[in-house]
Amino acid sequence: MIPRIAAGFARHLASYDTAATAQAQIADRLAARIAPRIAPAARMLELGHGTGFLTRQLARLDPAEIWLNDLVAPLPALRWPDATRVQALPGDAAALRFPAGLDLIASASMLQWLADPAALLHRAAQALCPGGLLAVSSFGPGNFPELAGLGLPPGAPSYHDAAGLCAALPEGMQVLAAWDESIPLVFPDARALMAHLRATGVNGLRAGHLSAPGLRDLMRQMNRAGPTTLTYRPSYCMARKC
Ligand SMILES: C[S@@+](CC[C@H](N)C(=O)[O-])C[C@H]1O[C@@H](n2cnc3c(N)ncnc32)[C@H](O)[C@@H]1O
Repeated sequence: MIPRIAAGFARHLASYDTAATAQAQIADRLAARIAPRIAPAARMLELGHGTGFLTRQLARLDPAEIWLNDLVAPLPALRWPDATRVQALPGDAAALRFPAGLDLIASASMLQWLADPAALLHRAAQALCPGGLLAVSSFGPGNFPELAGLGLPPGAPSYHDAAGLCAALPEGMQVLAAWDESIPLVFPDARALMAHLRATGVNGLRAGHLSAPGLRDLMRQMNRAGPTTLTYRPSYCMARKC
């Protein structure tokens, strides 16, 4: 599972920034709720930073220290405040040694790739200082309903809506906000939609499992259905350690 996910993202990092418009909006929305709750000189960790949609916003909060984790992506090239100490923590977030006493652990559009996101949230909660903030987004079970309607299996292993994310938190975490959204993207045809999935590395089709004729048949079905829409269903959860 992990090597397949890593290969999917590594191959498409160059196209992710321009293609991943839904993920860019998600990172912005999460960052907007984080900003008022974090004082300057905080100690932070971001899990699954990718090309840096959320990282860019965290840099604006003037952290004293930030640890950046991703399975495959190199550290985003950003201008950091002079006083910020930036440290890379590459590899599988599920196997990470967390720094201790953190003020913020944040993650956008990554948890759905883990086999056991609840285990990661438990370890994250332990790494927070009292009063520390956990701010994450994932995707709900209704993600990409258009593809599910065509009989395709979910693209990622662990879809959770906001209530599911909250339920996965350990005791001692107080939920501050949790919400679900819907972000529909419209494409001129099935080919453009497929290109979008490939360019973001979010291969909701597990396309490797489809034969070329199978894929062609699927695209014919999609084009017959009219305007080609792909609906992202992001879920968010923000909680404070008591
Ligand atoms: C959809 S991208 C989101 C990237 C970024 N957070 C954003 O908002 O655009 C998912 C990222 O999670 C990373 N990822 C997937 N599984 C991971 C894991 N087990 N540990 C760490 N990073 C992981 C991928 O490499 C990819 O960069």
